[in-house]
Amino acid sequence: MKIAVILGSSRSDGNTRHLTDKFVEQTNAAFFNLADYEISAYDYTHENKDDDFLPLIRELVKFDHLVFSSPVYWYSMSAQLKTFFDRLSDLLTVNKELGRQLKGKSCSVLSTGFDIELRRCFAEPFELTANYMHLVYKGCDYISIQSESDLLNVNRCVTEALKKLN
Ligand SMILES: Cc1cc2nc3c(=O)[nH]c(=O)nc-3n(C[C@H](O)[C@H](O)[C@H](O)COP(=O)(O)O)c2cc1C
Repeated sequence: MKIAVILGSSRSDGNTRHLTDKFVEQTNAAFFNLADYEISAYDYTHENKDDDFLPLIRELVKFDHLVFSSPVYWYSMSAQLKTFFDRLSDLLTVNKELGRQLKGKSCSVLSTGFDIELRRCFAEPFELTANYMHLVYKGCDYISIQSESDLLNVNRCVTEALKKLN
């Protein structure tokens, strides 16, 4: 199975990157950091159609499983990933053919946050958007990182994430 991980975080060397790197190490997944792409907010007039969103999607459709990796920022996905998700609307309007190529793929979520428990409201937009886009949603794995020592536990989270790929 060909796996791609899409990281959206305000820190390219932060906690979520650490978790993502461990997942990539174990899966040989391809890694895409939204910080490396110029993707602007959704535009109803599509004047941003030449930014990096469509080239990134053209890369992502080559994979079977997409992993969205995001810290919890105010109970939600990061703004970087939310902008990417908003732009999926382009695939329902002006780039339908490319959108169709996402159908039937699967996806899952990796996340880090401070709170011990992940609120249900964090994962819901991923699941509902996946359903809308006809992606098979395989769930979300979360690790609470409150101190340096918690970083040692990321492998446990990766193990849970790997189970979802079978
Ligand atoms: C703007 C902001 C908002 C945050 N909101 C939450 C939150 O709602 N719930 C939570 O558990 N942690 C929250 N945190 C903590 C981060 O989720 C946590 O430190 C995460 O591991 C950071 O990952 P990063 O290094 O990839 O940014 C927030 C951090 C920031 C900077």
